[in-house]
Amino acid sequence: MHLTLRQLEVFAAVARHGSYTRAAEELHLSQPAVSMQIRQLEEAAGLPLFEKLGKQIHLTEAGREVFLCAQAVGRQLQELEEVVEALKGVHTGHLRLSVATTANYFATRLLAAFSRRYPGTTFSLDVTNRKTLLDQLANNETDLVIMGKPPEELELDATAFMDNPLVIIAPPSHALARRNAIPLQKLQNETFVAREQQSGTRIAMERFFAERGVKLRTGMEMTSNSAIKHAVEAGLGLGIVSVHTLELELEAGRLVILDVDGFPIQRHWYLVRCVGKRLPPVAQAFFDFLMGDDAAHLIQPASVS
Ligand code: PGA
Repeated sequence: MHLTLRQLEVFAAVARHGSYTRAAEELHLSQPAVSMQIRQLEEAAGLPLFEKLGKQIHLTEAGREVFLCAQAVGRQLQELEEVVEALKGVHTGHLRLSVATTANYFATRLLAAFSRRYPGTTFSLDVTNRKTLLDQLANNETDLVIMGKPPEELELDATAFMDNPLVIIAPPSHALARRNAIPLQKLQNETFVAREQQSGTRIAMERFFAERGVKLRTGMEMTSNSAIKHAVEAGLGLGIVSVHTLELELEAGRLVILDVDGFPIQRHWYLVRCVGKRLPPVAQAFFDFLMGDDAAHLIQPASVS
């Protein structure tokens, strides 16, 4: 039976009103247009769907069956519309966010601030290394990524949204701890506890020193910022970390930031997605939220009140 949704819709309106004229009014159609749709549906069914008794039109037995079907289809379409709207809506959306190891220190605060603005939203947060982030972007396995500047040669859309200064940390007892304007050359005598080779922090640190012709001694490598902080506290060497990784260590006097020429290394945090990727509404809302608000303010513990 070849029929169209439009025919069912027109038929249901006529059946409800018991009138071609009123159905035409409801649907903003001419009466001949309504008659034509009903005639085509009756042809498809091979049976009359209405019968006229006096001035009244009534459903035939076949018409009653078609009416039941039209109502069921109408309900299903309505449900589908609601589901699609919900999928489109920010308020019930699910955000897939992946962030670089270092961004772990503030990503949850950003999500908390966002969820106060959009309380129905849910998240999955993947904290991982730079290489995995780039793979996820290439395979469309995440909506948005927060990371340091991605490689230029990749087809990625990267927008900076917050500063990311890198500083040199030392234990307060270190000989350089109370010095001002320490020349870079002085650092050549020090041992550094460094992040792993592929991390954004490590890449930035190596580029900075290479550009200035300074050779660093990296005694140890660690994949975690908090391991680096503990190692520095324990006197294993100096560390270079994002200020965002420093929590209470400065206040508690367990670590100090050295005043070194050229420091901090000025970097930025980027929101990254594939070029041309159409973001789901919740991801777009998160993007707009970070662009519209002062993200640095959002991640202050004081703003969580
Ligand atoms: P990471 O941080 O050092 O944890 O990779 C990202 C970046 O600074 O680029």
